[in-house]
Amino acid sequence: MTDSAALPRHVAVIMDGNGRWAQQRRRPRAFGHKAGQEAAEALIRTARERGVRHLTLFAFSSENWQRPPEEVQQLFRLLALALERQVGQLLENDIRLRFIGDLSRLSPALRKAMADAEAQTAHCEGMYLNIAVSYGGRWDIAEAARRLALEVERGELPAHAITPETFRRYLALGDTPDPDLFIRTGGESRVSNFLLWNLAYSELYFSDCLWPDFDAQQFDAALAWYAKRQRRFGTVPVPVDGSSASA
Ligand code: IPE
Ligand code: IPE
Ligand code: MG
Repeated sequence: MTDSAALPRHVAVIMDGNGRWAQQRRRPRAFGHKAGQEAAEALIRTARERGVRHLTLFAFSSENWQRPPEEVQQLFRLLALALERQVGQLLENDIRLRFIGDLSRLSPALRKAMADAEAQTAHCEGMYLNIAVSYGGRWDIAEAARRLALEVERGELPAHAITPETFRRYLALGDTPDPDLFIRTGGESRVSNFLLWNLAYSELYFSDCLWPDFDAQQFDAALAWYAKRQRRFGTVPVPVDGSSASA
């Protein structure tokens, strides 16, 4: 068990390994994505139970558009079905849903379903759930720069006012504290263009577990690992009694 001080406020997850999980079972990749969807729904419930405030899940990257069109279609069909099913659950658990990413590439029908789900849960505050769809960290930073440049162009913001603190507010998660804990399943140790700006000081946890197998026990193992990290943010460790270590 972890005490609340050692509980990450924001957990960001790359849910990877659906295809390999299906392959191990000699089933089509879509079978893995369906199981992965169920694992995501279970994680949302577990994170809420553990008291995580912000949960960000990488569901579809800007690079995933390069997959075969049938797989892309299947992924979006699954997302649409999950939305229909899940909104009641989110409301019951007081979870606010938001999508981040370049949604202009999605079908108008899906975009409408996403916006409706966001609106229905807009009053919830038990946990903030961000789903990254058609999302890329570089897209996010470029988009922030574009919006900033527009304000400068219009004379609303002097260029010298652009600092890391003002810049971050233009990012998709500009109102959310940076992830404390980053989890990637599926055995790869890479960030794959997820929250590039926001992960600057996150604790990075890589698991060999394939995403559909990532259950509450696996999540608790990640939380326990996080609780043992000493976060220094470039400074020197603060002694527990608060006294100064300098002579
Ligand atoms: C993650 O699983 C789901 C998405 C990227 C949409 P993958 O589909 O990447 O599964 P692997 O990595 O091929 O096993
Ligand atoms: C990252 O997984 C994206 C998501 C989980 C949505 P990928 O499977 O697309 O990443 P790579 O190809 O291994 O870098
Ligand atoms: Mg993958």
